[in-house]
Amino acid sequence: MAEPSLSEVLDQSWSLLMQRRSDALDRTITLSTVDESEQPQACLVVLRDVKPSLAEIEFHTDAESLKVHSLVKNPKAQILLWRSDLSLQLRIDVLVDCHHGERVTDHWKQVPEHSRIAYGKAPPTGAVLSSPFAYKTLSAAKNFMIARCYVQKIDVLNLDGAHWRAQFLKSDHWTGRWVSP
Ligand SMILES: Cc1cc2nc3c(=O)[nH]c(=O)nc-3n(C[C@H](O)[C@H](O)[C@H](O)COP(=O)(O)O)c2cc1C
Repeated sequence: MAEPSLSEVLDQSWSLLMQRRSDALDRTITLSTVDESEQPQACLVVLRDVKPSLAEIEFHTDAESLKVHSLVKNPKAQILLWRSDLSLQLRIDVLVDCHHGERVTDHWKQVPEHSRIAYGKAPPTGAVLSSPFAYKTLSAAKNFMIARCYVQKIDVLNLDGAHWRAQFLKSDHWTGRWVSP
Protein backbone atom coordinates (compact mmCIF):
# COMPACT_ATOMS: atom_id res chain seq x y z
CA MET A 1 0.00 0.00 0.00
CA ALA A 2 1.56 3.35 -1.07
CA GLU A 3 -0.79 5.70 0.78
CA PRO A 4 -3.63 3.58 2.12
CA SER A 5 -7.11 4.79 2.90
CA LEU A 6 -8.60 4.09 6.32
CA SER A 7 -11.21 1.79 4.81
CA GLU A 8 -8.49 -0.23 3.02
CA VAL A 9 -6.59 -0.60 6.29
CA LEU A 10 -9.69 -1.79 8.14
CA ASP A 11 -10.51 -4.30 5.39
CA GLN A 12 -6.91 -5.52 5.38
CA SER A 13 -7.00 -6.02 9.17
CA TRP A 14 -9.97 -8.36 8.95
CA SER A 15 -8.41 -10.13 5.94
CA LEU A 16 -5.25 -10.77 7.93
CA LEU A 17 -7.30 -12.28 10.75
CA MET A 18 -9.14 -14.50 8.25
CA GLN A 19 -5.82 -15.55 6.74
CA ARG A 20 -4.41 -16.45 10.16
CA ARG A 21 -7.57 -18.42 10.88
CA SER A 22 -6.90 -20.62 7.84
CA ASP A 23 -3.09 -20.63 7.92
CA ALA A 24 -1.97 -24.27 7.76
CA LEU A 25 1.29 -23.53 9.60
CA ASP A 26 0.27 -21.05 12.29
CA ARG A 27 -3.27 -20.32 13.43
CA THR A 28 -2.22 -18.69 16.69
CA ILE A 29 -2.78 -15.22 18.08
CA THR A 30 -1.39 -13.78 21.30
CA LEU A 31 -4.02 -13.14 23.94
CA SER A 32 -3.40 -10.87 26.92
CA THR A 33 -5.60 -10.88 29.97
CA VAL A 34 -5.16 -9.33 33.41
CA ASP A 35 -5.31 -11.71 36.35
CA GLU A 36 -6.82 -11.11 39.78
CA SER A 37 -3.54 -9.70 41.13
CA GLU A 38 -3.52 -7.27 38.17
CA GLN A 39 -0.63 -9.14 36.57
CA PRO A 40 -0.87 -9.09 32.74
CA GLN A 41 -0.80 -12.63 31.32
CA ALA A 42 0.01 -13.17 27.63
CA CYS A 43 -0.31 -16.54 25.90
CA LEU A 44 -0.90 -18.13 22.52
CA VAL A 45 -4.33 -19.42 21.57
CA VAL A 46 -5.56 -20.91 18.32
CA LEU A 47 -7.78 -18.59 16.32
CA ARG A 48 -10.95 -20.65 15.79
CA ASP A 49 -13.32 -18.23 14.08
CA VAL A 50 -13.39 -14.71 12.67
CA LYS A 51 -16.64 -12.88 11.85
CA PRO A 52 -15.85 -9.48 10.30
CA SER A 53 -19.51 -8.48 9.87
CA LEU A 54 -20.15 -9.00 13.60
CA ALA A 55 -16.66 -7.85 14.67
CA GLU A 56 -16.18 -11.12 16.56
CA ILE A 57 -13.24 -13.45 17.08
CA GLU A 58 -13.37 -16.86 18.76
CA PHE A 59 -10.93 -19.14 20.56
CA HIS A 60 -11.39 -22.26 22.67
CA THR A 61 -10.02 -22.87 26.12
CA ASP A 62 -10.15 -24.93 29.32
CA ALA A 63 -12.76 -23.68 31.79
CA GLU A 64 -10.22 -24.14 34.63
CA SER A 65 -7.49 -22.04 33.01
CA LEU A 66 -6.21 -18.89 34.65
CA LYS A 67 -7.37 -16.84 31.66
CA VAL A 68 -10.99 -17.91 32.23
CA HIS A 69 -10.83 -17.03 35.94
CA SER A 70 -9.32 -13.69 34.91
CA LEU A 71 -11.93 -13.01 32.22
CA VAL A 72 -14.82 -13.71 34.58
CA LYS A 73 -13.54 -10.89 36.81
CA ASN A 74 -12.34 -8.66 33.99
CA PRO A 75 -13.63 -9.40 30.47
CA LYS A 76 -11.19 -6.95 28.86
CA ALA A 77 -8.41 -8.57 26.83
CA GLN A 78 -6.11 -7.74 23.96
CA ILE A 79 -5.25 -9.84 20.93
CA LEU A 80 -1.92 -9.35 19.16
CA LEU A 81 -1.07 -10.45 15.64
CA TRP A 82 2.26 -9.81 13.87
CA ARG A 83 2.81 -10.36 10.17
CA SER A 84 6.58 -10.30 9.68
CA ASP A 85 6.21 -10.60 5.88
CA LEU A 86 4.17 -7.37 5.82
CA SER A 87 5.85 -5.68 8.82
CA LEU A 88 2.36 -5.12 10.20
CA GLN A 89 1.12 -5.35 13.79
CA LEU A 90 -2.52 -5.61 14.85
CA ARG A 91 -3.52 -4.92 18.45
CA ILE A 92 -7.16 -5.68 19.05
CA ASP A 93 -9.05 -4.71 22.20
CA VAL A 94 -11.85 -7.15 22.96
CA LEU A 95 -14.49 -7.94 25.55
CA VAL A 96 -14.62 -11.69 26.09
CA ASP A 97 -17.72 -13.73 26.88
CA CYS A 98 -17.03 -17.36 27.83
CA HIS A 99 -19.61 -20.02 26.96
CA HIS A 100 -19.67 -23.61 28.17
CA GLY A 101 -21.95 -26.47 29.19
CA GLU A 102 -25.09 -27.18 27.16
CA ARG A 103 -24.62 -24.07 25.01
CA VAL A 104 -21.53 -25.61 23.40
CA THR A 105 -22.49 -29.31 23.36
CA ASP A 106 -22.90 -29.43 19.58
CA HIS A 107 -19.54 -27.79 19.11
CA TRP A 108 -17.86 -30.27 21.50
CA LYS A 109 -19.07 -33.14 19.32
CA GLN A 110 -17.02 -31.70 16.44
CA VAL A 111 -13.79 -31.44 18.46
CA PRO A 112 -11.48 -34.25 17.24
CA GLU A 113 -10.50 -36.88 19.80
CA HIS A 114 -6.82 -35.86 19.76
CA SER A 115 -7.75 -32.21 20.49
CA ARG A 116 -10.04 -33.05 23.41
CA ILE A 117 -7.09 -33.68 25.71
CA ALA A 118 -6.68 -29.90 25.96
CA TYR A 119 -9.86 -29.73 28.03
CA GLY A 120 -9.74 -30.91 31.64
CA LYS A 121 -6.71 -32.12 33.60
CA ALA A 122 -6.39 -33.80 37.00
CA PRO A 123 -5.08 -31.94 38.88
CA PRO A 124 -6.38 -28.87 37.01
CA THR A 125 -4.21 -26.85 34.63
CA GLY A 126 -1.80 -24.64 36.56
CA ALA A 127 -1.69 -26.91 39.67
CA VAL A 128 1.79 -27.69 41.05
CA LEU A 129 3.00 -31.26 40.25
CA SER A 130 5.59 -33.52 41.89
CA SER A 131 6.98 -34.49 38.44
CA PRO A 132 6.36 -33.42 34.80
CA PHE A 133 3.81 -36.11 33.92
CA ALA A 134 2.03 -36.48 37.27
CA TYR A 135 -1.32 -35.53 35.80
CA LYS A 136 -4.13 -37.12 33.77
CA THR A 137 -5.99 -35.74 30.77
CA LEU A 138 -9.76 -35.89 31.20
CA SER A 139 -11.02 -34.83 27.74
CA ALA A 140 -13.98 -33.42 29.63
CA ALA A 141 -16.86 -31.77 27.81
CA LYS A 142 -17.57 -29.71 30.93
CA ASN A 143 -14.14 -28.08 30.58
CA PHE A 144 -14.64 -27.09 26.95
CA MET A 145 -15.19 -23.38 26.69
CA ILE A 146 -15.81 -21.17 23.69
CA ALA A 147 -14.50 -17.66 24.26
CA ARG A 148 -16.30 -15.15 22.07
CA CYS A 149 -14.35 -11.91 21.70
CA TYR A 150 -16.29 -8.77 20.84
CA VAL A 151 -13.88 -6.41 19.12
CA GLN A 152 -13.90 -2.87 20.51
CA LYS A 153 -10.81 -1.36 18.91
CA ILE A 154 -8.22 -2.23 16.26
CA ASP A 155 -4.80 -0.56 16.27
CA VAL A 156 -2.73 -1.12 13.12
CA LEU A 157 0.98 -0.30 12.93
CA ASN A 158 2.79 -0.53 9.61
CA LEU A 159 6.60 -0.60 9.59
CA ASP A 160 6.99 -1.38 5.88
CA GLY A 161 8.44 1.72 4.19
CA ALA A 162 7.21 4.97 5.71
CA HIS A 163 5.63 4.08 9.03
CA TRP A 164 1.95 4.70 9.62
CA ARG A 165 -0.57 3.81 12.33
CA ALA A 166 -4.35 3.74 12.29
CA GLN A 167 -7.02 3.10 14.92
CA PHE A 168 -10.61 1.96 14.51
CA LEU A 169 -13.16 2.08 17.32
CA LYS A 170 -16.48 0.33 17.55
CA SER A 171 -17.78 3.36 19.49
CA ASP A 172 -16.89 5.47 16.43
CA HIS A 173 -18.62 3.00 14.06
CA TRP A 174 -15.19 1.90 12.75
CA THR A 175 -14.66 5.21 10.91
CA GLY A 176 -10.98 5.16 11.81
CA ARG A 177 -8.31 7.79 12.41
CA TRP A 178 -4.64 8.18 11.68
CA VAL A 179 -2.32 8.24 14.69
CA SER A 180 1.32 9.23 14.86
CA PRO A 181 3.31 6.01 14.78
C1 LIG B 1 0.94 -23.10 19.78
C2 LIG B 1 0.08 -23.00 21.00
C3 LIG B 1 -1.30 -22.98 20.87
C4 LIG B 1 -2.12 -22.89 21.98
N1 LIG B 1 -3.47 -22.83 21.84
C5 LIG B 1 -4.26 -22.68 22.92
C6 LIG B 1 -5.68 -22.52 22.77
O1 LIG B 1 -6.25 -22.52 21.66
N2 LIG B 1 -6.41 -22.37 23.90
C7 LIG B 1 -5.85 -22.34 25.14
O2 LIG B 1 -6.57 -22.19 26.12
N3 LIG B 1 -4.52 -22.48 25.31
C8 LIG B 1 -3.71 -22.64 24.23
N4 LIG B 1 -2.36 -22.77 24.38
C9 LIG B 1 -1.80 -22.79 25.75
C10 LIG B 1 -1.78 -21.36 26.32
O3 LIG B 1 -0.82 -20.58 25.62
C11 LIG B 1 -1.50 -21.37 27.83
O4 LIG B 1 -0.20 -21.86 28.07
C12 LIG B 1 -2.50 -22.21 28.58
O5 LIG B 1 -3.80 -22.00 28.06
C13 LIG B 1 -2.50 -21.89 30.06
O6 LIG B 1 -3.01 -20.60 30.23
P1 LIG B 1 -3.54 -20.02 31.63
O7 LIG B 1 -2.36 -19.33 32.24
O8 LIG B 1 -4.63 -19.07 31.24
O9 LIG B 1 -4.05 -21.16 32.47
C14 LIG B 1 -1.53 -22.84 23.28
C15 LIG B 1 -0.14 -22.83 23.40
C16 LIG B 1 0.65 -22.92 22.29
C17 LIG B 1 2.15 -22.91 22.48
